[in-house]
Amino acid sequence: METSNYRRLQENLEYLKLKQIGLHLNAVLDANQTTPLSFIDTLLKLTDYEREVKEHNVTNAMIKVAAFPHLKTLNDFDFAFQEAISKDQILDLSSLRFLEKQENIVFQGSSGVGKTHLAISIGIIAAQNRNSTYFIKCHDLIQNLKAAHAENRLEAKLKTYAKYRVLIIDEIGYLPLAADDAKMFFQLIDKRYEKKSTIFTTNASFQSWIDIFQDPMIANAIVDRVLHHATVINIVGHSYRLKNHLQQD
Ligand SMILES: Nc1ncnc2c1ncn2[C@@H]1O[C@H](COP(=O)(O)OP(=O)(O)OP(=O)(O)O)[C@@H](O)[C@H]1O
Ligand SMILES: [Mg+2]
Repeated sequence: METSNYRRLQENLEYLKLKQIGLHLNAVLDANQTTPLSFIDTLLKLTDYEREVKEHNVTNAMIKVAAFPHLKTLNDFDFAFQEAISKDQILDLSSLRFLEKQENIVFQGSSGVGKTHLAISIGIIAAQNRNSTYFIKCHDLIQNLKAAHAENRLEAKLKTYAKYRVLIIDEIGYLPLAADDAKMFFQLIDKRYEKKSTIFTTNASFQSWIDIFQDPMIANAIVDRVLHHATVINIVGHSYRLKNHLQQD
């Protein structure tokens, strides 16, 4: 390759922001001298470098946007500790089939059994596969909706939360909701119903959701929509947080 053309090629790559091709060009040219690749194979090799980094960046951005409180994955989950959980069922959920069917997941159980961990693990897989994903605690969600309502922006805020392909609403039932808050929550659930998947974690039975949402009609309407197309994983077991204490007993 002529020196001036080589320089022009480098300039083009820089101008087109094809940084990875620029970085790998010399190595590919050198390798080509001993083991020549076809034109197509050379281009493919170079564009693969570029694509790999771009995909990695997009994935990282999706995970950042999701606002997970931590990044624990299914590999970090000790299935042997929590016997009530079927690993196969969780692996099936991690295939993201539920997303295609706009189904929900509810992780139900007492404190420390792994509800949030599993919800995040599945959320991470969803985000890695380029599905817009967002994690929020129920209390924060309600506070944000209330603030938006006070500023006459409720509809816009509901639309924002309604658009995520996967919304994780963590900790339903830890704090009771005022009747008006329950109505806003219902509006969001209704907007997502049969359109988008929502993952819930809760320490309360569905019967006690009536107490949480105060108004039985609203509570029933919420539970109805949540459960119509849903996988409920009821985790009956010990708290992982108390694992070491349990072993000492
Ligand atoms: N089976 C498990 N294997 C590995 N780590 C686990 C397991 N279960 C829970 N943990 C860890 O224990 C801690 C508590 O789990 P998690 O936050 O998922 O509990 P939770 O069911 O959401 O509880 P809470 O109702 O109090 O929010 C986390 O650090 C989580 O990563
Ligand atoms: Mg939790």
